[in-house]
Amino acid sequence: MLSTIGKTNQKYIPATSKGQPFLKWAGGKTQLLHELLPRVPQKYNTYYEPFIGGGALFFAISPKKAVIADINDDLVNAYIVVRDFPEQLIELLAEYVNDKEFFYKIREQDTNNLQSIEQAARLIYLNRTCFNGLYRVNKSGQFNVPFAGYKNPNITQVERILADSNLLQETQIYNVGFDKVLDRAKKGDFIYLDPPYYPKSVYSDFKRYNKEQFHKDDHIRLAELYNKLTERGCKVMLSNSDTPFTCDLYKRWHVDKVYAKRLINRDVSKRGEVTEIIVTNYDY
Ligand SMILES: C[S@@+](CC[C@H](N)C(=O)[O-])C[C@H]1O[C@@H](n2cnc3c(N)ncnc32)[C@H](O)[C@@H]1O
Repeated sequence: MLSTIGKTNQKYIPATSKGQPFLKWAGGKTQLLHELLPRVPQKYNTYYEPFIGGGALFFAISPKKAVIADINDDLVNAYIVVRDFPEQLIELLAEYVNDKEFFYKIREQDTNNLQSIEQAARLIYLNRTCFNGLYRVNKSGQFNVPFAGYKNPNITQVERILADSNLLQETQIYNVGFDKVLDRAKKGDFIYLDPPYYPKSVYSDFKRYNKEQFHKDDHIRLAELYNKLTERGCKVMLSNSDTPFTCDLYKRWHVDKVYAKRLINRDVSKRGEVTEIIVTNYDY
């Protein structure tokens, strides 16, 4: 768990309350928004997203009251810092340069020795300047994506970070596994579940977001939780890969097959359109 960070007074709050992802994230749902948004219920109380990643749907909806979580502590720290210290974060990012030597110096930093704001700046900086904006770590949790050498990456993202900070003011943010945060979901709440996808084949689907992997047992646990949340009266939407296993897990509910563009696949010939499933337990 992350330590609690106190809030600062924001000097400037932008007029807009809509946010946008401040990180590119593997498995991010920007390409699938045209399928997801029409399925979001018209009315609900609190929005829950326990596998937040880059938060494509969360920002597209920009809900007033939300609970978001992820097991990746580096990522969750960045959300908390964007919410509570946007100006200090932007000031620090403004000092960072798009240079190979500087990139590897930042990449080598041990996050255990960094303050929260430095840790968030490091993640955002690496995400803007590394190859494909990927988040990938090795077995010991060390970020290992190389420098991309892009011409003019937007490292500071001033407007976006300020808008996101404004949106996140009413958002609870947790660094926990999915089951912990859903304990408190109630009747009338809307939950979007976007776990690491069940692999279509041994080499497909990039899923190393963390040192720990999301296994078959975790998918089964998640499907059991989906059923419990339904009994509790929550509206739940879930996305996953289209496989016999995942279709079978959710066969009691509406399972729609949709096309999505996916760029992350070891086999270049398989980068392109693949089918995915969107499961809902309500009519829309
Ligand atoms: C498919 S990505 C989510 C992408 C996100 N919807 C977006 O638009 O960017 C899955 C996320 O689940 C997180 N994750 C993996 N295992 C988890 C667990 N047991 N509990 C909570 N989050 C987990 C990963 O760190 C990753 O950020």
